Amino acid sequence: MNRRHALVTGANRGIGRAVAAELRARGMALTVTARDPAAASDTAADLGPDVRARQLDVTDPGSVGTAAADVGPVDVLVCNAGVLLDGGTGPLTTPLDLVEETLRVNLLGTWRVLQAFVPGMIRRGWGRVVVVSSGTTAEFGGALFAGAPGYSLSKSALNGLTTLVAGQTAGTGVLVNAVNPGRVRTRMMPRTTTPPEVPARFIADVASLPAGGPTGQFLTERHLPR
Ligand SMILES: NC(=O)c1ccc[n+]([C@@H]2O[C@H](COP(=O)([O-])OP(=O)(O)OC[C@H]3O[C@@H](n4cnc5c(N)ncnc54)[C@H](OP(=O)(O)O)[C@@H]3O)[C@@H](O)[C@H]2O)c1
Repeated sequence: MNRRHALVTGANRGIGRAVAAELRARGMALTVTARDPAAASDTAADLGPDVRARQLDVTDPGSVGTAAADVGPVDVLVCNAGVLLDGGTGPLTTPLDLVEETLRVNLLGTWRVLQAFVPGMIRRGWGRVVVVSSGTTAEFGGALFAGAPGYSLSKSALNGLTTLVAGQTAGTGVLVNAVNPGRVRTRMMPRTTTPPEVPARFIADVASLPAGGPTGQFLTERHLPR
């Protein structure tokens, strides 16, 4: 059988890079993407000689379109790219330009990437999509985090988007889920202890779900059978 081809956004550092390494270790063909082309190339070179690199800025329609046209069929898509710009603010004081930029990257950027890659998965009858969300969201029994209101709302909207796209892919062989990686030590959360390799294993599990697995869900590690 041909190897599944995985593509990860924001794969040059943090959780995205660890997920890319984990998917490759599991035998997938891999394209790493980053908004800085040199960062994408350096990451690919570090991860292995067979790893491909593409520039992909989720906020730039031309960049996403070119990447989608260049890389060929993608079976596994990890929408990881994201920003946290309004930490330490509050709903009544947060600068709305920060909220606007957050929504542009986290919500609209992810949406753009889903529009670029999911229709091909549906046509081919197989796909696994993982949207990296957050525990700061209100759906599925959670609560929004007032200390990063734009970020929280952007991730809540991503959970909603995940359910909408999963509705479109129902019965097609394409599973679409959002994940909560927990608190992870990256440039975004430097004072946390859990290294990105820990959620990377769980995210790779969601990217490798068997046929008939969950779809349209917001998954944490405890949801998956061990
Ligand atoms: N760390 C946590 O505790 C935690 C918890 C919950 C959810 N998350 C989520 O996990 C994901 C990864 O975050 P992280 O913790 O690994 O943070 P990170 O180290 O700051 O990585 C963020 C990644 O997103 C990329 N990115 C930002 N804007 C982009 C754009 N316009 N186009 C393409 N890529 C872009 C960054 O690229 P550059 O290097 O070019 O900036 C970087 O590769 C995010 O969606 C985040 O919200 C993280």
